[in-house]
Amino acid sequence: MALNLDSIGKPIGPVTKEYTWKDVVLYALGVGAGFNELEYCYEKDLKVLPSFSIASILNIDFLAILAETTNINLAGILHGEQELIFHNPIPTEGTLTTTGSVTHIYDKGDKGALVVAEFDTVHSNGKKLYTSIVTLFSRLDGGFGGPDAPVKEVVFPDRDPDHVIEGVPTKDQPLIYRLTGDVFQLHVDPEFAKMAGFEKPIMHGLCTHGYACRALTQSLFPGKPEQMRRMTCRFSKTLYPGEAVKTLVWETGDGQALWKTVHSETGVEIITNGECEYGDVVEETVRFDDRVAVVTGAGAGLGRAYALELAKRGAKVVVNDLGGARDGSGKGTSSPAEAVVKEIRDLGGEAVANFDNVATPEGGENIIKTAVDAFGSVDIVINNAGILRDKSFTKMAPENWASVLAVHLNGAYNVTRPAFRVMKEKGYGRIIMTTSAAGLYGNFGQTNYSAAKMALVGLMNALKIEGAKYDIKVNTVAPLAASRLTEDIMPEDLFKKMKPEFVSPMTLFLCSEECPVSGNIYNVGMGFFNRAAMVTGGGAVVGDGETVPSPEALMAKLEDITTMDQGKEFQHLNDQVGEIMAAFSPKG
Ligand code: NAI
Repeated sequence: MALNLDSIGKPIGPVTKEYTWKDVVLYALGVGAGFNELEYCYEKDLKVLPSFSIASILNIDFLAILAETTNINLAGILHGEQELIFHNPIPTEGTLTTTGSVTHIYDKGDKGALVVAEFDTVHSNGKKLYTSIVTLFSRLDGGFGGPDAPVKEVVFPDRDPDHVIEGVPTKDQPLIYRLTGDVFQLHVDPEFAKMAGFEKPIMHGLCTHGYACRALTQSLFPGKPEQMRRMTCRFSKTLYPGEAVKTLVWETGDGQALWKTVHSETGVEIITNGECEYGDVVEETVRFDDRVAVVTGAGAGLGRAYALELAKRGAKVVVNDLGGARDGSGKGTSSPAEAVVKEIRDLGGEAVANFDNVATPEGGENIIKTAVDAFGSVDIVINNAGILRDKSFTKMAPENWASVLAVHLNGAYNVTRPAFRVMKEKGYGRIIMTTSAAGLYGNFGQTNYSAAKMALVGLMNALKIEGAKYDIKVNTVAPLAASRLTEDIMPEDLFKKMKPEFVSPMTLFLCSEECPVSGNIYNVGMGFFNRAAMVTGGGAVVGDGETVPSPEALMAKLEDITTMDQGKEFQHLNDQVGEIMAAFSPKG
């Protein structure tokens, strides 16, 4: 049976796994630690090797679902590449919840196929521990006519490595390692190994990976495994138990190294293309514990990403979504909002669903009532719900104009107004408007959308002034992200890179207690951030202020009037009026 190409993007998990200090120690013993690294093997002051994160005991169920979802042919499956990104230190016990999805399926023709999946693991302490990007090489699934994988080769420095650390797995090493979860016969059964074309059972690739992880830790940040930030590699050749390996490490920059693990005698590369980043963890200080957040249109796209990240960082979230069509037509359905609430609850967070229409005042009132009834208050509102009805201007029928303004502009008014009352009362609030480059700069066929999106900037400008004395801050994001609104506008390659999650850091920062600004607009997408602003030029006086100047007189001074030299931002209408007055005041 062929690979299921439709599995790309489908959520996998959550898969939950409890572990204790004994699992941590068993893993360390399985990858060769002993009395020389007692910190990984003794429950007193126990530390966790970073590579424990992909120990089979934690991941086997997830990988089984991944295999089933993609329909990968298990007979030809190999672990191709592994990337691990560490967000927080791994505790010595607890419950882990893993969710993810297949991100790419590549076709390597006769050689096979590559299935790439990315997943996040969150600990029962509420912290995201690590992101794992696994590439499975399926030897028997190629030739379906898909795109080939982009090639990424690490170029090792042309000099001796800075560190060489030898590891000697025992002849019985796989017998211990397999107890961490991967009980595949290839690593234990001599007959099976022969059938598969090997002399005898071979080492688990992830066991050798554990040796490499120990080597990196010993050489770059001894005794401080929590400093591992990122570890990537490609599995290259198999290894027999009892054969020594050397991990070669080149320090290439501040907190950066390249590495590979080679056979000590033959020099054959067993694991290659290794990169390692290390340094202190940036502590998760942006938290929303005890905060109540309302995210409109949170059943998909950007809103879903915001709702999940807010909940992971402690917020109680109202997930609002009407569940209608892309153009706002149809009756709507409760399933998108309900699915996101389930995702949040599965990760141990708190959320309730709401299916009201932001486009009506009653809908807005009810969304805020849902927050107050369920969680007692509202601290954060993200006005995110949106639809599109693109038409060139002469074809822009009144209903297309009205419905886009109703959702984007009226929607923000309908939801923010009842929330503002609560925020004013409590003396705290964070409000986000969602604008668009189409509104800020213009786009063909989007007069309705551009007008609505720019109107939201006006709403922000006035509301930031009304909210200032109550610590209510109002800011605006102009996102760029892959969603159903952009799927037919963006080239496929770009679309895949524009994950909505890249927009969340800015939106969350603007929602946080730490946010120092109000009335700002930020463009955000793919990890790029910049601020957009209304800037006013220095201007010029034409005439004497007593007689009305002629258009000709104005034209004569057009350059001075138009130039943005000495451009400045005003925070209030009065600042601009003051500027005009000042132009006619006698200069001191
Ligand atoms: P999306 O279509 O994935 O999400 C919008 C959500 O809003 C949908 O789940 C939809 O069901 C919901 N919704 C629509 N009308 C609603 C209503 N009346 N009441 C409640 N929920 C409603 O799209 P995406 O891209 O995540 O858009 C989010 C916001 O970001 C929108 O305001 C959009 O205009 C804005 N935006 C997105 C850009 C992008 O590159 N994706 C670019 C610029 C702005």
